[in-house]
Amino acid sequence: MPNPPAPAFLQLFEPDAAAVRDELVQGLLAPHAHVAPKFLYGPLGSCLFDAITLLDEYYPTRVEASILEANAAAVAEACGTARPLVDLGAGNCAKAAGLFGALQPSQYVAVDISVEFLRQSLARLQQAHPALPMLGLGMDFSRALTLPPAVLPGPRTLFYPGSSIGNFDPDEALAFLRQVHAACDGGKLLIGVDLVKDKAVLDAAYDDALGVTAAFNLNLLRNVNALLGADFDPAQWQHVAAFEPVRSRIEMHLVARSPQVVHWRGGERRFEAGERIHTENSCKYRPDDFAALLHDAGFRGTRLWTDERRWFAVFVASA
Ligand code: AVJ
Repeated sequence: MPNPPAPAFLQLFEPDAAAVRDELVQGLLAPHAHVAPKFLYGPLGSCLFDAITLLDEYYPTRVEASILEANAAAVAEACGTARPLVDLGAGNCAKAAGLFGALQPSQYVAVDISVEFLRQSLARLQQAHPALPMLGLGMDFSRALTLPPAVLPGPRTLFYPGSSIGNFDPDEALAFLRQVHAACDGGKLLIGVDLVKDKAVLDAAYDDALGVTAAFNLNLLRNVNALLGADFDPAQWQHVAAFEPVRSRIEMHLVARSPQVVHWRGGERRFEAGERIHTENSCKYRPDDFAALLHDAGFRGTRLWTDERRWFAVFVASA
């Protein structure tokens, strides 16, 4: 069989290296140091996240897949078929690929900040689906979601799985969902949302026995070293993640094991032992609260499917 052509790929902006460095330095110098979760990803970080999804403790990926599989026909009916499918944070593209049969998309658009990882995932997927037009978009949509004209117009299905929406606090999530609403162009949003549950289950999902999530979190320091020319020593930091019920979110931090000075091109910071860098929030919702958020963002006709333990929910809403 002749090889299908490699999928079209747009790197939407050669990410402005100076702006990225400014953002990182500003976070590192803040009284409570922080680095955004998008810096967890890259060739290694995206592989470590895939490994997390295989852990016994990390239920979201498996439960979401089981909900989608059990309700594929109803979800497809709610979404509509033969539309462009835009996959936000596509990663290995496996979740979207599982929907191709039911949704029969007219185009598959995979968006991710981890450009090289996405390029490889999409090239593999195109081999398996030679007749489906595919487009890769390398972009950071966490600030602004503007789709290029190469994405087919008309009602689109925006797919935002895995509870990645949890990386935004609810007010940020609302602003982001308003942009998603516009990008739907009269179509639908298909979104996976992790639900509030027993703290022990949540804590284990983000602090697993094998230490894969710890490696995922610590790898952020390698990414910062590469981007800033910094000299973080991952061995001097400890992964900490736990559910904070008051804000209904997992908070993930890196905690300094010893007092140290970290240097980078043009700056430095001293960290005392026990001082933290906040690296991720993962907000957990009650179904009604998330439905209200969708309504505030302009979506109507919300439907939801969940699992028997009510650990995770899949929503479809009309833009
Ligand atoms: C990819 C943002 C959905 O919050 O569960 C997994 C990332 N962080 N383990 C999540 C993550 C630690 C994940 N999301």
